[in-house]
Amino acid sequence: MSANTKNIFFLGKGGVGKSTSSALTALYLSNLGKDVLLVSMDPAHNQSDIFEIQLSEKPVKLKDNLIAKEIDINFWIKKYLNDVESQIKHSYSYLTALNLENYFGIIKYSPGIEEYALISAYNEITESFQEKDYIIFDMPPTALTLKFFGLPKLSLLWLDKLLDLRNEIIKKREIITKVKFGTKEIERDKIINKLNKQISSYEKIKKEFEDKDKTKINLVLNPDKLSFSESGLIVKKLREFDLYIGNIIVNKYFPEFSVDQIEKNFNHTGMQLFPISEKPLLGINELQKYIGSVSFENYSI
Ligand SMILES: Nc1ncnc2c1ncn2[C@@H]1O[C@H](COP(=O)(O)OP(=O)(O)O)[C@@H](O)[C@H]1O
Ligand SMILES: [Mg+2]
Repeated sequence: MSANTKNIFFLGKGGVGKSTSSALTALYLSNLGKDVLLVSMDPAHNQSDIFEIQLSEKPVKLKDNLIAKEIDINFWIKKYLNDVESQIKHSYSYLTALNLENYFGIIKYSPGIEEYALISAYNEITESFQEKDYIIFDMPPTALTLKFFGLPKLSLLWLDKLLDLRNEIIKKREIITKVKFGTKEIERDKIINKLNKQISSYEKIKKEFEDKDKTKINLVLNPDKLSFSESGLIVKKLREFDLYIGNIIVNKYFPEFSVDQIEKNFNHTGMQLFPISEKPLLGINELQKYIGSVSFENYSI
């Protein structure tokens, strides 16, 4: 991945304005002449409604310097299942008639599968759009987003244990067969190779997520109590994954609201206030007018 592309994620409780804030930020940056890709990762896909243009997996140009695409989560789940299937068939050559896709209707509800799909999409997008200055991710509701961010760390814990187990098996096999396996044999072990490949892939993502210059995690909230308590929970969870908030976005802000309580509660680097708009923030012209009335001076992007 390019050393220069910055990834900005927008997360928060449903309805706080993740999609609106992502759209405004994408427009703002593209107005500055930055080359921007906006990605809708939320299966609810609000960006089509906000920009009043149908988006899809294939990027659509919204204006100069700005393209947008929507993740089709079923497509990524199918792709993930196909990969798993070919890996299983490769490692266990006697399993010729395994067709996971036949069970797609039920497998797609397997626990954990959606975050795998989203991580695969993230990987593919960051690889394919290395020339962009910014990739902006409009994220799904809190639960799935936290699983997405937790996946690399969690997978690494598992993979580490699996690697130990595999080495243990190789040692036992040595004893049983009384044949000493040299380091060459261990290196050639298909399963060890597979595990090491997965480990380096997750390590790369984990490092990217933890790099505060590369990855900005923007937490969107509203000036109200409910929004605050869920935000506190998100911050706590992210810390468990060694991740920190880049910006607090106070959306639907009104001047009577004091941001002091935010300053105390969150250990963030920047803050962006998006005032409540009387007119619906729909269509590129309305969004642009709104941007013209907003200050971006404390936004760390
Ligand atoms: N700053 C704002 N002023 C007025 N309405 C807003 C503002 N931000 C968002 N909205 C409205 O609030 C609703 C939820 O916003 P949305 O961006 O879809 O939230 P999320 O993506 O977090 O679910 C939408 O109807 C949107 O138009
Ligand atoms: Mg949304």
